[in-house]
Amino acid sequence: MKTKILVTGGTGYIGSHTTVELQNAGYDVIIIDNLSNSNIGVLDGIEAITGVRPTFVEGDCTDMATMRRLFDENPGIKGIINFAASKAVGESVHKPLLYYRNNLNTLMNLLECMPEYGVKGIVFSSSCTVYGEPDVNPIDETAPIKPATSPYGNTKQISEEIITDYIASGAPIKSIILRYFNPIGAHESAKIGELPVGVPQNLVPYLTQAAAGIRGELTVFGDDYNTPDGSCIRDYIDVVDLAKAHVIAMKRMLDKADTEAIEIFNLGTGRGVSVLELINAFEKATSVKVPYKIGAHREGDIEKIWAEPTKANTVLGWRAEVPIEETMRKAWAWQCTLK
Ligand code: NAD
Ligand code: UFG
Repeated sequence: MKTKILVTGGTGYIGSHTTVELQNAGYDVIIIDNLSNSNIGVLDGIEAITGVRPTFVEGDCTDMATMRRLFDENPGIKGIINFAASKAVGESVHKPLLYYRNNLNTLMNLLECMPEYGVKGIVFSSSCTVYGEPDVNPIDETAPIKPATSPYGNTKQISEEIITDYIASGAPIKSIILRYFNPIGAHESAKIGELPVGVPQNLVPYLTQAAAGIRGELTVFGDDYNTPDGSCIRDYIDVVDLAKAHVIAMKRMLDKADTEAIEIFNLGTGRGVSVLELINAFEKATSVKVPYKIGAHREGDIEKIWAEPTKANTVLGWRAEVPIEETMRKAWAWQCTLK
């Protein structure tokens, strides 16, 4: 029998790509999503790619009665991947309670259900945002956690602490916390990808929409930072590479008896890429020009951060593989389906 995995937020950007990889690896996926930042049509994309339509529950993870019903109606779930969260940094500053309520109650409901329903492990979506502005790059998992610069970032720090404290209290579960760097791109098939609601706040969806003529010029937020070309540096990771790491993490948690109850991994490429370099990579990959101008710094932006991914490379046996031009080509192919 196939192992059952609950994917919360599974119709979202990273959740949909991960569902594809889980199904391709032979897992039976149940998605719960309240469709607050995604749409039901994503299920068609997943089905078109894998030939399997995942079980879908439309519901809110902050509602304990909904979660109990889900576990009652789908007995035998062995693992959870918790993507469900609100994730807009700027919005979180203006609506902190929404962020604390949604992100923390979702996690706590899941943790509470796990021993009750015999769920063995949970993979949690954290972020490199927990490191703040690093003192050194690349940054590894032992680096200090810096005070969060937004309520969103704080929910990730608190979530990591909640999981740690719960496991320390003796809860019979395991967890793998994955700290993502900057996920970008789309599935090779262009049947699923990133679908931001309204004006994109993140670089790549804005860039592809600007290139498609849907938005005005892209504003590069500063070219006078202390970096080689003056623009900010990030570690951009292909979303399919990222999705595959979740399958490996799940397998490790469920199938290996001798692992620590809680483990933390950076998921990045280990390579820092500037905003201007990324624009270049896009133009090289697609032969499409990006209209852009240099603007002011964005408030709260980190100057440079990239991952030391050695722990994930060696312990998980996972490595980011897709070259950046390829990722940009896929992002553009997806954008072209949205026109
Ligand atoms: P997304 O918004 O595309 O996906 C999240 C999904 O969760 C959405 O489909 C949304 O409708 C759903 N959701 C939100 N609250 C819910 C609730 N209470 N109950 C049920 N469903 C709910 O976001 P994403 O980019 O796929 O991110 C997934 C996870 O990864 C999030 O936890 C996010 O904080 C984390 N993360 C994302 C990034 C990034 O750059 N995309 C970076 C680091 C960490
Ligand atoms: N940028 C621009 N112009 C834009 C948008 C972004 O120049 O229109 C620049 C930013 O200044 C930054 C880089 O592009 O240097 C990347 O910005 P994003 O907004 O795409 O990503 P961030 O690194 O700021 O933050 C993202 C998510 C967070 C998450 C973090 C780490 O938005 O939720 O990655 O995973 F925590």
